[in-house]
Amino acid sequence: MRTQVGIIGAGPAGLLLSHLLHLAGIESVLLETQTRKHVEERVRAGVLEEVAERLLIDTGVGGRLKREGLRHHGIKIRYNGEGHRIDFKHLTGSHVTVYGQQEVVKDLIAVRLGAGGDIRFEVAEVSPHDFEGAEPHIRFMENGKQQVLHCDFIAGCDGFHGVCRPAIPSSSLTVFEREYPFGWLGVLVEAPPASEELIYAHHERGFALLSMRSPQVSRLYVQCDPNDDIANWSDARVWEEFHARMSGDDGVRQQEGRIIQKGITAMRSFVVEPMQHGKLFLAGDAAHIVPPTGAKGMNLAVADVSILSRALEAYYKKGREELLAAYSAICLRRIWKVQRFSWWMTSMLHKFAEHTPFDRRRQLAEIDYVTSSRAAATSLAENYVGLPMERDWVQDNRKTQSRSSNDFFRARLANPWAAFRKRRDARHILG
Ligand code: FAD
Ligand code: DHB
Repeated sequence: MRTQVGIIGAGPAGLLLSHLLHLAGIESVLLETQTRKHVEERVRAGVLEEVAERLLIDTGVGGRLKREGLRHHGIKIRYNGEGHRIDFKHLTGSHVTVYGQQEVVKDLIAVRLGAGGDIRFEVAEVSPHDFEGAEPHIRFMENGKQQVLHCDFIAGCDGFHGVCRPAIPSSSLTVFEREYPFGWLGVLVEAPPASEELIYAHHERGFALLSMRSPQVSRLYVQCDPNDDIANWSDARVWEEFHARMSGDDGVRQQEGRIIQKGITAMRSFVVEPMQHGKLFLAGDAAHIVPPTGAKGMNLAVADVSILSRALEAYYKKGREELLAAYSAICLRRIWKVQRFSWWMTSMLHKFAEHTPFDRRRQLAEIDYVTSSRAAATSLAENYVGLPMERDWVQDNRKTQSRSSNDFFRARLANPWAAFRKRRDARHILG
């Protein structure tokens, strides 16, 4: 079996990569250990930056996103029992869209399969080989039979616990990591959200977040012990904790409803450098993890594969290798800024056991500052709605400001390397 790009993992990163490659006329085969049902039902992130939303819409996977996605022009930060709004539209002209990750995954699977794409679910014992040599290939078991997929490149989109990152010699990688002494308990609830906008709440009992999936379904999170057993969280306890942390005099009270999903996620910051080794390229959670407070996990996966797909396109269409060589460096500039933002939001809003009374006062002063200073609020807003992609994207965008976003992306898809071609040297891209 042979293809141009062998992709491991059918999360947002792997699925979107295979879709973007298909649009560029590049073949791929996608290998996934889980069932289709499992990946389509996995409840995870829910916030899309505008640039990610536009990419999905303008590459033909945004039909349902446009109809069902909930456009948000701001968030509320709540402390001392009062909500304070950060107005994204006013401060940045931009917005985010609340649309569940599993919906993005469903849409991408439908589009790939509709276009005859090759996605193999329920494969086992997947392993990448010879990516340092001339014959990269992936071994896997399918219906009890050993298979070998030969390819030019391997894309490791297999998440944090995948096989691709550990397959790279550890002497070639540098890991940067920070664990947090707390996690998030997340629940999906059949009840309308108490607020049209997300509420991030700082509270002496710990952080809480009110989000949503639709006008009828709420997504709620509370800070918890990362090693806690989910069995310790009865529905009654979830409600008690959530109400307490959202309490205040302004009458915000989440309506209770049937809890249809419940899970605990540990929190960490993690980056591996570089994100490539020979012909193996890591993308998404395989290369980095952010704590979820900045709502960035899925967006970073989208950013990585949008860069990787364009670098592969330059290789196949123009024989240019320098963009593939620069893949990791281009991605890491964005990733580190997103890491900083996610760490900062997390530090500002969570309860830390080691905090002294001084630290608590400083934390409250920081929230007060960010919700009352236009400069500080703008900094939060521009990071939350999403930093521009790499430099060429920004410059192109400025030139095309008078055109609609659709025209802009159509132009990019028709001629995605126009800006890059002007700069022969990849260093310019990193400028
Ligand atoms: P993933 O979505 O993890 O996809 C990787 C895929 O690879 C999976 O389908 C997996 O089954 C498959 N795979 C793994 N190993 C192999 C193998 N050996 N062979 C083949 N396939 C393999 N982010 C937020 O911003 N907010 C949140 O609230 C939030 N909640 C989260 C909750 C959980 C439980 C987790 C794990 C993540 C959460 N995230 C959240 C992060 C966000 O969901 C991820 O950043 C996003 O899923 C990254 O996409 P990805 O495609 O890189 O990885
Ligand atoms: C959601 C998740 C986040 O991590 C976040 O910061 C905001 C919203 C969500 O799942 O809706």
